[in-house]
Amino acid sequence: MLAHLEQQPADALLALIKLHDADPRADKIDLGVGVYRTGQGETPVFGAIKAAERVLVDTQDSKAYLGPEGDMGFVRALMPYVFGEGAPDMGGRIEGMQTPGGTGSLRLALAMAKRAGATRLVVGNPSWPNHAQICRDLGLEVVEFNHAAPDGTADMDGIRKAIADGGEHDVLMLHGCCHNPTGIDYSEGEWDEIAGLLADSPMLPLIDLAYQGLGHGMEEDAYGVRRVLVSVPEAMVSYSCDKNFGLYRDRVGALYVMARDAADLPAIMSHGHALARANWSQPPDHGGAAVRIVLEDEKLTEQWLDELDQMRERMRQMRARLAQAGQAGSVDLSPMGQQNGLFSIVGLTGEQVLEIREKHGVYMAGSSRINVAGLTAGNIEKFIDAVADVSA
Ligand code: LMR
Repeated sequence: MLAHLEQQPADALLALIKLHDADPRADKIDLGVGVYRTGQGETPVFGAIKAAERVLVDTQDSKAYLGPEGDMGFVRALMPYVFGEGAPDMGGRIEGMQTPGGTGSLRLALAMAKRAGATRLVVGNPSWPNHAQICRDLGLEVVEFNHAAPDGTADMDGIRKAIADGGEHDVLMLHGCCHNPTGIDYSEGEWDEIAGLLADSPMLPLIDLAYQGLGHGMEEDAYGVRRVLVSVPEAMVSYSCDKNFGLYRDRVGALYVMARDAADLPAIMSHGHALARANWSQPPDHGGAAVRIVLEDEKLTEQWLDELDQMRERMRQMRARLAQAGQAGSVDLSPMGQQNGLFSIVGLTGEQVLEIREKHGVYMAGSSRINVAGLTAGNIEKFIDAVADVSA
């Protein structure tokens, strides 16, 4: 049965980790997978998470099953940060469940939407490659619109048309903040317009919020989610704590569903629970429990937010330097100063991406997406020179 299966290519993004590790050059630069790095190039465990893990080890008295919804204390503790202190559940219309990372949440959201009648995902191009991959696996058609305008800002005509063309079997994927891979987010005014257009659209918005706090701040980065949710009857939010709590390999995420009517929520969520049971039964507990402990403790919350501020500030400094460098060969780095989060697209061709890897040891995704957090005061000048060299 199995012998005829053909070799599949390794995931191009994850394969970069191994390629970079195998490169013997001491001055190589890893700008591949989206993992935050300090100015020393490290990805340490957050101090607030370390402290919470100590509490967990000391106080946890059982590891017995919790159920397909996971740790609801964790799920609820995040809600004021996502949906706002004033209306964390929109009058009982929002419910959530824990998922294995943001990917688990997206998988669940799309599978639930499919059960509800969705046939297509409408998504900006470019997007995180896993969005389309999950859809292919679920048998959902992917329809693309253009996300980025040539000047490095959002292509509003692209999304206007996508919403105008959207039908009742369409899910609209929106990146809540820190767009992956372009770093190009909608401004508050643009979110207002999108929310207004969605109010008159039958599409179901699915907002991928995987980088909250890494753009402009926890509150600022929730603007789009909150704006859309007050305008539409139903929506889904896929949340990841991988980046903003540094829990990558612990796989910590949540799926939130806003229903038209609070009375519909138990039936809707029962599909999420059934799908979770059929996929992973229950989410891993450890990371979600650590996040809950952080959020239940005022001092740990403060420490976590300070650590997040430092990360954001360091990425802003790197972006400011790129913007200041301006032109590097034929590439204009200046729009990167206005973009947000871990990612931006440099604008190199596929050949130039290979050349910068071979000649200069600079690793980036094939789309020429860079992880800005891989840049440091010690390597950013080399990076700018390398871009200038291969794009001259
Ligand atoms: C990325 O885009 O680099 C991250 O979201 C990591 C991943 O799983 O792809």
